[in-house]
Parts: sequence; structure tokens; C-alpha cells
Amino acid sequence: MSVAHLLITGGAGFIGSHTCLVLLEAGHSLVVLDNFANSSPESLRRVAELVGANAAARLQVVEGDIRCSTDLDRAFAAGSIEAVVHFAGLKAVGESVAEPLRYWDVNVAGSRCLLAAMVAHHCRTLVFSSSATLYGYPEQVPIQETAPIQPINPYGHTKAAVERMLQDVAASEAGWRIASLRYFNPVGAHPSGHIGEDPSGIPNNLFPFITQVAVGRRERLQVFGGDWPTPDGSGVRDYIHVMDLAEGHLAALQVLLNGGDQLLTLNLGSGRGHSVLEVIAAFQEASGRAIPHDVVARRAGDAAETVADPSLAAELLGWRTTRGLAEMCRDGWAWQQANPNGYAS
Ligand code: NAD
Ligand code: WQD
Repeated sequence: MSVAHLLITGGAGFIGSHTCLVLLEAGHSLVVLDNFANSSPESLRRVAELVGANAAARLQVVEGDIRCSTDLDRAFAAGSIEAVVHFAGLKAVGESVAEPLRYWDVNVAGSRCLLAAMVAHHCRTLVFSSSATLYGYPEQVPIQETAPIQPINPYGHTKAAVERMLQDVAASEAGWRIASLRYFNPVGAHPSGHIGEDPSGIPNNLFPFITQVAVGRRERLQVFGGDWPTPDGSGVRDYIHVMDLAEGHLAALQVLLNGGDQLLTLNLGSGRGHSVLEVIAAFQEASGRAIPHDVVARRAGDAAETVADPSLAAELLGWRTTRGLAEMCRDGWAWQQANPNGYAS
């Protein structure tokens, strides 16, 4: 396996921190560029602790913004960067409806600035955090990468726009090696419980809401809809353990770095759907805590069921998920129990 110097934008965030850990353990050298808009340097301090002093010596952190070319130049100058893993962005669907310009600025203009810096620094290998949100209300499940792109909120529009920009860039000249990875529902934590998901304010997503109810930070969970056309009436999603997702990035980088020009667009999911009620039951089992909940009206903008067809990633990356719902709950609980208030604990 070849090792490389990598720039990780947004590396202090939930998925970024777990991926940094996996990349350091694989021998890569990392420069993380993050403005800590939605994270804390503490996550990277803990990553360094988990990997040990030798590997931690291969981690540098640059505080800065992907929209600022000076910050990008500082990050590229910190190491001879061969590839970029681009996590930095804003991801809250509701917030994107209220503040679309901020989402277009950070997610789209920020990605454009990053690509310009890559050109200036002769780096043409990129892994981009895309999202299953692109598929909107899917017409068929499991969802293949060829399914129509029809996002239904500004956040999704920005992800679709960046994918489109990457296609244009890849077609513009030889030398680009790009992977757009469409994540399904990332959950869980590193099994140590030292790093995990630390949303600010009231969680929008199911999994962190459940863990916060379990630890006593919130009283009850609302189950959005009991009348979906699914086996138990609650919504079905493809949850993916964040460690599996991190390993998917390692596999994608390996394929890009070892291959010629390419533009890969891949679903990263497990291929298995679980309903909200199944997730609650699995979490109760893993934690030994009751999750009081009420079934309420459907949430606007939700689909009944989204599940990946992950076979293209298996074929092209030789990667598939290995951790199931019980491990997602066990590890997510280990993190929340040890850090009831996240990194501020
Ligand atoms: P996160 O918010 O935990 O991480 C994003 C990181 O980017 C944070 O550390 C934040 O401080 C940083 N950041 C934000 N704006 C920045 C800027 N202008 N300059 C530099 N850094 C900036 O989110 P995450 O869950 O780790 O998601 C990572 C990526 O994956 C995002 O692009 C997100 O859209 C995408 N994604 C996430 C999910 C999910 O459910 N978590 C699903 C699909 C796709
Ligand atoms: C999962 C299920 C809800 C909260 C979102 C983004 C998507 C992607 C992943 C970034 C649904 C139900 C939820 C609650 C509930 N992010 N639910 N009570 O909506 O599938 O995807 O995160 O790219 O873009 O839209 O995830 O965790 O919000 O919801 O019943 O308090 O849980 O209705 O069925 P979602 P989620």
C-alpha cells in the first residue's frame, strides 16, 4: 500500500475525525484544514491520542476557511499534498432552507476555491463528501447511482451543484482523479468511545437524538410518522457505521492514487434498511436504557425509505460495510455515555 500526503478539509468534524484516524493508522500524512465552525480541535487531539505519538507526528492542523485562498495556500504549503479529502461544509437541511446563500457560499463557492487552489498547487486527486440527499424521494429502492438526481432542499442542491462542477472539471483536462462518495446515514462512533458525533443544539438527526435521550439530555423522542408504507409504519433508512464509512474513504483514495484519470460516483451505504422503531429497539438493547418515544406526524421533506445499492462501491473499491446496527448502537452509546455533553464534557 502506498502512503501519501493528504489535505483533509473539515477533518475535525464527525466523519472527518474518524477518517483521519483510519488514514493515520494506514500510514498517511495529513494536513487538516478546518475553521471549527461545527467542531472542536478537541476531536483531533483525541484522534492523536488514539493513534499514538508516532502516527500523531504525521498530523498537522491548520485553522482556516476553505473560502479563503490564503488559508488554502497555508494548508498546501504545510505538506506536498498529493490528494484532498473534502469534508468541509454545512449539512443541516432545515438551516439550508432558512439560509440558502450561506449554504451556497460554504458548500459551492468553498468547493470552487478549493479546486482553484488544487490547480494552483498541481494537485488533481480529490475525494468529495456527497450525499444520498441528492436522490430526494427515490423512485426505486435500493437506489443505484444512475437514479435521477432530484434534491428537494437547498442543502441537496449544493451537493448536486458540486458534483456537477466536479464533472466539468474532470472533463476540462487530463490528470483529474475524483471520487464523489454519496453517503447514506452515517451513525455510531469509534469503538473506544473517545471520538463521536457532537451536534450543537438540538439534534436534527435520529441517532444523536436517541443517544441524548438515553443519557438524559432530552426527555422523549418524537417518531416522525407511523403511517409510512413500510413494514412497521416508521421511516426506513440505510444506516452506516462511521468506521465503515471512514474505511470507504481509505479504499477510494487507494483506488484513485493507484489508477489513472477517473471520475467515480459511488453510494456508500450498507444496502440494508432499518426502521426508526427498529433503531430504537436496537439502541435500548445495546444501552440497557429505555427510549421514551411518541409517534407523531410525518416530518416535511422525509421519504418513506432510502436504502443504497452499494454494489458499485464493492466492485470498484473492494469495500463493503462490516458493522451492523448492534455495533452502531453499542459504539454510539459508548461515546455518548463517556461524553454526555460531547467534547465539552
Ligand atoms: P461536520 O459538521 O461534523 O463536519 C464538517 C466540518 O467542516 C466541521 O469540522 C466544520 O467545522 C468544517 N467546516 C465547515 N465550514 C468550513 C469552512 N468554510 N472552512 C473550513 N472548514 C469548515 O459534518 P460531518 O457529518 O462530518 O459531514 C462531513 C461532510 O459529509 C459534509 O460535507 C456533509 O455535507 C457530508 N455528509 C454528511 C452526512 C451526515 O449525515 N453526517 C451525510 C452525507 C454527507
Ligand atoms: C432518519 C429517520 C426520520 C429524527 C439526513 C439528511 C441527509 C443526510 C443524512 C447529510 C427518518 C426519523 C428523525 C427524529 C425521527 N445528511 N426521525 N425522529 O432525514 O434520512 O437524512 O441525514 O447529507 O441529507 O436529510 O436522517 O436522521 O434526520 O432521519 O423519527 O427526531 O428518522 O423521519 O425516517 P435523514 P435523519
